Amino acid sequence: MSCSQHTPHPSYWLGTKAMASSSSSMAIITVLAILVLSMGSSSAQLSTNYYSKSCPNVFTAVKSVVQSAVSKEQRMGASLLRLFFHDCFVNGCDGSILLDDTSSFTGEKNAAPNQNSVRGFNVVDDIKSAVEKVCPGVVSCADVLAIASRDSVVILGGPSWNVKLGRRDARTASQAAANNSIPPPTSSLSNLISKFQAVGLSTKDMVTLSGSHTIGQARCTSFRNRIYNETNIDSTFSNTRQGNCPRTSGSGDNNLAPLDLQSPTKFDNNYYKNLINQKGLLHSDQQLFNGGSTDSQVRSYSNNPSSFSSDFAASMIKMGDIKPLTGSNGEIRKNCRRLN
Ligand code: HEM
Ligand SMILES: *[C@@H]1O[C@H](CO)[C@@H](O)[C@H](O)[C@H]1NC(C)=O
Ligand SMILES: *[C@@H]1O[C@H](CO)[C@@H](O)[C@H](O)[C@H]1NC(C)=O
Repeated sequence: MSCSQHTPHPSYWLGTKAMASSSSSMAIITVLAILVLSMGSSSAQLSTNYYSKSCPNVFTAVKSVVQSAVSKEQRMGASLLRLFFHDCFVNGCDGSILLDDTSSFTGEKNAAPNQNSVRGFNVVDDIKSAVEKVCPGVVSCADVLAIASRDSVVILGGPSWNVKLGRRDARTASQAAANNSIPPPTSSLSNLISKFQAVGLSTKDMVTLSGSHTIGQARCTSFRNRIYNETNIDSTFSNTRQGNCPRTSGSGDNNLAPLDLQSPTKFDNNYYKNLINQKGLLHSDQQLFNGGSTDSQVRSYSNNPSSFSSDFAASMIKMGDIKPLTGSNGEIRKNCRRLN
């Protein structure tokens, strides 16, 4: 949220002749202007050309590792994109999700939304090594995730965007914040809206970014209740999914199913078409098209892939702007798994 919405714009003050005429009020104006500018979010310090001098080859280095990892296993593109989401929602895009637990440090990897679920850490290590080779100690792990996410989406056929950079890496992590900030698949529509609002993202951004579920896989434990107990689901679809996800809790919990039954390795708008046909895999997915306020946006994206693409790029940039560490805050980690 920008403070400029709540602070009178400097031109309002300039409009009063009496004040503009005295030099002391000019000083006040200057102070106010600086205040307004400095109160802007620190995301203003991110820029697309951040490494143009210090690491011009960062994009080539990241892309080549992402390319080979996704060629080896297409799901990896989805896994890298999700890592960025789970990083950004927990105290900002600061690489905190990448820190390993140790005997004296509890990170985010074993938080409820992440444990036995998030993956791709070895690929992040490989990307970081490639980047360290071309410019040691320059590029943050948080920025590596931001670039790798964009590359993953592009490689799987989705839109491209210019990635804003200049994030630094956290020296802390929070399991509690990871538990509380990332919405679970049991979420209602109003819960989804409020979790996104809590990080400055709109309901529209929420529906747009959920289109990420056009790629990747979910575990049986994430959708069991939906396929056995819910009524707003296509019966052929639920029968199919029941085939590889036993009713009894504890058995087959980690069996996988594609989030998009039609084209799970292609970044397209089929996710929204599925929702209209009551074939959303997660309870939270189907909440976006269940007679509520977001139905119209789902319908619109299902008919208009190019508006989904351009909105997705814009919302990814917005998500990447969540509370970055800049200036002298944080550090540039050498190894994404541990503090320097
Ligand atoms: C709207 C709220 C969201 C909820 C409730 C949610 C929940 C989930 C769940 C439960 C899974 C499957 C995890 C498992 O069973 O192991 C999943 C997978 C995934 N999510 Fe989300 N998600 C949400 C939003 C997002 C966003 C905003 C993104 C990206 C910008 C995203 C990207 C992904 C991807 C790519 C996968 C597949 C990962 C893989 O195959 O490794 N999700 N999500
Ligand atoms: C986070 O959730 C996990 C799994 O439910 C739980 O074991 C852990 O204690 C929670 N951590 C915190 C700090 O609340
Ligand atoms: C279906 O709902 C009932 C009642 O809430 C619950 O006890 C049961 O565990 C649910 N079944 C599955 C497969 O989730």
